[in-house]
Amino acid sequence: MADSVLVPHLSDAMVRVTEVAAIAASKLAGMGDEKAADQAAVDAMRTAFNSVNFQGRIVIGEGERDEAPMLFIGEEVGTGDGPQIDIALDPLEGTTLTAKAMANALAVLAIAPRGGLLHAPDTYMDKIAIGPGYPDGVVDLDATPAENIKAMAKVAGRPVEAMTACVLDRPRHADIIESLRSVGARISLISDGDVAGVINTTNADTGVDIYLGQGGAPEGVLAAAALKCVGGQMQGRLVFRNDTERGRASRVGIEEFDRKYNLDELASSETVFCATGVTKGGLVDGVISQGGVTITDTLVMSSADGMVRKITSRHRSA
Ligand code: FBP
Repeated sequence: MADSVLVPHLSDAMVRVTEVAAIAASKLAGMGDEKAADQAAVDAMRTAFNSVNFQGRIVIGEGERDEAPMLFIGEEVGTGDGPQIDIALDPLEGTTLTAKAMANALAVLAIAPRGGLLHAPDTYMDKIAIGPGYPDGVVDLDATPAENIKAMAKVAGRPVEAMTACVLDRPRHADIIESLRSVGARISLISDGDVAGVINTTNADTGVDIYLGQGGAPEGVLAAAALKCVGGQMQGRLVFRNDTERGRASRVGIEEFDRKYNLDELASSETVFCATGVTKGGLVDGVISQGGVTITDTLVMSSADGMVRKITSRHRSA
């Protein structure tokens, strides 16, 4: 393994951070209160960070300082001793999924040495992602969805009808869906959770070949950090709906508003990615509490050694 500042000590500590966030959010699963579930995850994650021996700096967080009192962009966490680390986080990826006790809600974070993650603003991002095993450049954000999936099918030696694209089920994706349908591709529509949507392209068991569409830019960086660990290709371009959003981008140092970022620009250095299931999903199981024990399931991946682990932990229930 190449010299790593993240593995194993920080990666193990980060697993504990997403575990406690997931446990806290899971207590509110199905209660219909998105904000309360998110706040519970935020509080737990922040407390857990502060016992980790590192100089953590949040680069993708809950929002800007004036709108997010905790885990805001720029907040420093950790004991203040140890390596300087940048953090992208989403304490609860899938607030609606949790509030409605639907599948696939996660507590997620990625870490990198300082400067290793794009400081993406809280805006949308157009994204395209595929798993490993394809030649570089086989897909491109500027090609049509039909062209992209046909190019992949050709390389894979499969009919387009056997290819599946994962797309967030939103009216704004009508053109993407129409383009994919025009060539007979299959579409797996998801209601929320595009970090998992992207990661699913790396796992043949999911049947998903490509992720396409517009979702949160912070989620784009988190997904890129995950792909960096397991291989694959991704491109993203920020989408601005108004000057407020352009202002957010300027404040985090974005100068080229229409730039297309590739995977190595979204996540430019060594990364560790952790996701603990809040509710049961395709990537990981959800939190289970029974008989005084709480069980969590976490996916942890490291780019330094390409390691992918599933960690099942048993916690004494508080
Ligand atoms: P939340 O955790 O904030 O509910 O976000 C879930 C999510 O589905 C993301 O995975 C995705 O990137 C984004 O929301 C899409 O945004 P929108 O719901 O506005 O289309």
